[in-house]
Amino acid sequence: MFRRLEGVRVPVEICVNGQNVQASDGDSVAAALLVLGIATFRHTPKTGSPRAAYCGMGVCFDCLVTIDGEPNRQACLTPIAPGMTIDTGTRLPQLSETASI
Ligand code: FES
Repeated sequence: MFRRLEGVRVPVEICVNGQNVQASDGDSVAAALLVLGIATFRHTPKTGSPRAAYCGMGVCFDCLVTIDGEPNRQACLTPIAPGMTIDTGTRLPQLSETASI
């Protein structure tokens, strides 16, 4: 569905849902996940419906993922970093984890 445009690509090792994969330096987390074929970033708390990046600019909050153990990070606004750990849709955040936001 998504593919990378031709050009300079600097590979970066990241871990997505427990698997080591390569992404490209300069990509957002959302772009990296979509290129990897991951189409579900989270599930809604009420109905469990799958969600992924929608607006791509920090407005819709459909792209929330857990990054380096911190839940509710916006994948579209977060640049990839070497060694980054990303978990998608594996659990809902607990209220205690979101209270400081
Ligand atoms: S895709 Fe809308 S906030 Fe990230």
